[in-house]
Amino acid sequence: MALWSGRFEEGVDAFTQRFGASLPVDQRLYAQDIAGSKAHAAMLAAQGVIPQEDAAAIAEGLDGIQKDIESGSFVFDINNEDIHMAIESALTECIGSAGARLHTGRSRNDQVATDTRLFAKQRAADLMAANLALREALLAQAEANFDVILPGYTHLQHAQPVLFSHHMLAYVWMLARDFDRLAAAQAAADANPLGAAALAGTTYPLDRFATTAALGFDHPIPNSLDAVSDRDFLLDLLYACSVSCLHLSRLCEELVLWSSSEFGFVTLSDSYATGSSIMPQKKNPDFAELIRGKSGRVVGDLMALMMTLKGLPLAYNKDLQEDKQGAMDAADTLEDCYVCAAGMIATMQVNPEAMMAQAKKGYLAATDVADYLAKKGLPFRQAHEVVGHLVLLCEKRGCDLEDLTLADFQAESPLFEADIAGALNLEAIVAARTTYGGTGHEAVRAQMVEAQARQATDQAKL
Ligand code: ARG
Repeated sequence: MALWSGRFEEGVDAFTQRFGASLPVDQRLYAQDIAGSKAHAAMLAAQGVIPQEDAAAIAEGLDGIQKDIESGSFVFDINNEDIHMAIESALTECIGSAGARLHTGRSRNDQVATDTRLFAKQRAADLMAANLALREALLAQAEANFDVILPGYTHLQHAQPVLFSHHMLAYVWMLARDFDRLAAAQAAADANPLGAAALAGTTYPLDRFATTAALGFDHPIPNSLDAVSDRDFLLDLLYACSVSCLHLSRLCEELVLWSSSEFGFVTLSDSYATGSSIMPQKKNPDFAELIRGKSGRVVGDLMALMMTLKGLPLAYNKDLQEDKQGAMDAADTLEDCYVCAAGMIATMQVNPEAMMAQAKKGYLAATDVADYLAKKGLPFRQAHEVVGHLVLLCEKRGCDLEDLTLADFQAESPLFEADIAGALNLEAIVAARTTYGGTGHEAVRAQMVEAQARQATDQAKL
């Protein structure tokens, strides 16, 4: 029998019952639903709306239901549209009329918003913890391979040499921003809709501040219409998940490239690669590719909810039932991707010789040779031109800048002296980038300290 059976002469048919149900998705919210109901019942009793004995029976009955759900003995019956109805009908079956008083001054619209907010807060916290663990793995690889040099790229063309640690730290900072976005999504969810009583507030003397404190929310939502129809907090969570997935996708794209024969910069652990059913020699970076691929679905989840919300009149509309599936999927997917990426990074082998061999190609010293001339007084634009000629000469001879003689250099500019050899050394070129945030060893050491400190600050927010 439906909760609204008074008004209806016929029930829905089996198809519409199934079509209209959210139970398969929202049964995951059982713990939040029970916590919300216990807080509501305790507040009703404290306000004298229901007897204390009823509130005690409700709390005890709900604890029993939670145990049954967790032990697997609870039967989720699709004839209950959602988790709120499934729990309330089980409660009333179990404790009788006290259970039937629980819904006083409350609507499922309040419940679904409350449960989803509690869930979003928890999932944001889980993701923040997983985000930190991935950053830890990146920091450990940066530390273990601190001095390793690889070519830095722009347009995927060799540009200037950089430290591998610097490259890893770039991802650490991207992920630190993702952590902030997750924390912001958590804060957006941290407000209590309970007491909206479907849309307009209620004639019962509800204490919304009491349920706010009992459920650990920051504040009650100040407008009852907004309380039941706002899903911005899920958009915030989905956006945070989407951006972080994009970052992981970029990282994984580099791992795919780096583990190829063309690069050979890293060797992925066998646990993070697969073979081919036909080509015996293959070792494929499937998991890096999969993380890159999953980002598409997570961004899709964000788009889907934006489209669902667009054009909805106030207050609750059944369209809102479509809100949870994508948000749950995005959070689950990102959490798995964080775990997978952390394992892949922690176990990959870095190949310094392969990186150095590539760093020696592509005239990575060219900018520094131009700077050498500029520091001797030649305007940088002219210095750029001179080095351009030298690179052209190398191209024609099929050699590197290092292979040119002092006479070759001096033929282009009399400012070149014997110390030009120093300007061609990759270690020296890297070390000379001493500006804050640059790739010089000392600057990167300072950056590591900053990133570690940030790690501790963020840890304290969990
Ligand atoms: N199952 C609904 C949802 O997930 C909650 C109940 C909505 N209230 C209503 N009057 N239909 O959004």
